[in-house]
Order: sequence, then C-alpha cells, then structure tokens
Amino acid sequence: MDLRSLRFLVLWPHKDKMEDCILDADFLPSTRHFAAFDNENNVLACCTLMPESRIVEGQVYSMRLRAMASHPDVRGSGMARELLSFALGHFLGEKFWCDARLIAVPFYERCGWRVRSEAYEIPIIGTHFLMTS
Ligand SMILES: CC(C)(COP(=O)(O)OP(=O)(O)OC[C@H]1O[C@@H](n2cnc3c(N)ncnc32)[C@H](O)[C@@H]1OP(=O)(O)O)[C@@H](O)C(=O)NCCC(=O)NCCS
Repeated sequence: MDLRSLRFLVLWPHKDKMEDCILDADFLPSTRHFAAFDNENNVLACCTLMPESRIVEGQVYSMRLRAMASHPDVRGSGMARELLSFALGHFLGEKFWCDARLIAVPFYERCGWRVRSEAYEIPIIGTHFLMTS
C-alpha cells in the first residue's frame, strides 16, 4: 500500500481511482509528506504539510495539514498521533491549521489541537471544523 492507495481507501473513496488521489500542492518543493510504514514498506499512516497561511483571531497559522489518514488495521494504536507529532516536529516555531472532518475532531483534540470555527460543509466530504495546533 502506497500513500495514494491509503488516501483512496480512507480519505477519498468516492474518486474513480487512486491516481486521482493527489493534491495540487503534492509536488511543490515546499510540500512535505510523512508516512509510517510496516516491515514490507506498506504505508500505515500518512499526512502532508504545506505552507499556506490562515489567520485565526489575529494569529498567523502558516502551515496547513492535509490528508491525515491511518489504515483501519492500526486505528487506535497511537500511530497516527505519533506520525503527526513527528511531522510537526520538522517545523519548529510554526503554527498549524487544518480543515478537520467531523469524524476526526476527537483525534485532533487528543493531539492537542483546538476547534476554531463553527461547522461548515465541504461538498461530497461533509461537515468540517477549522482546527489549529
Ligand atoms: C483520523 C485518523 C487519522 C485517526 O487515526 P487513529 O489511528 O485513530 O489515531 P491514533 O490511534 O493515533 O489515536 C490517537 C488518539 O485519538 C483517539 N481517537 C482517534 N479517533 C477518535 C475518535 N473518532 N473518537 C475518539 N477518540 C479518537 C484515539 O483513541 C487515541 O486516544 P488515546 O490518547 O486515548 O490513545 C483516522 O481515524 C482516519 O484515518 N480516519 C479517516 C480519514 C480521516 O477522516 N482523516 C482526517 C481528515 S481531516
């Protein structure tokens, strides 16, 4: 399982094929992808960080988190949280934000993030909240 396959499986199963599971910013030099692998190089958890600023209550959050996912087989193991912590550790001094799916809000809260908006809808995907680190 590679990064696109995991994205297809758990984030965007409505797309036609895994080749469609890429973001415009995926190949920018400033974008960073992080993944946790098993011994056979299958991706078990992944996330992507990119520079994109968002101002929340006067504070600049300069990095955007996208495509946070873990394989169903490892859910609840703490691997996703560890990967996120590892990824954020590469950007010391930065602040982070994301569009958090309703279903993922408790995960981000367990990682110390905070809900910073009312609920809003993103077509096809559903209800989201702005969250910050
Ligand atoms: C969101 C997601 C990455 C969380 O992965 P995970 O494997 O459950 O995360 P972890 O095992 O690292 O969990 C860390 C903590 O969050 C908690 N947690 C995770 N999801 C939770 C939920 N839905 N409700 C309550 N607690 C939750 C875990 O129990 C764990 O708690 P602990 O501190 O008591 O150990 C995963 O559920 C996923 O891939 N979901 C589908 C894709 C998705 O929605 N991604 C987010 C896009 S914004």
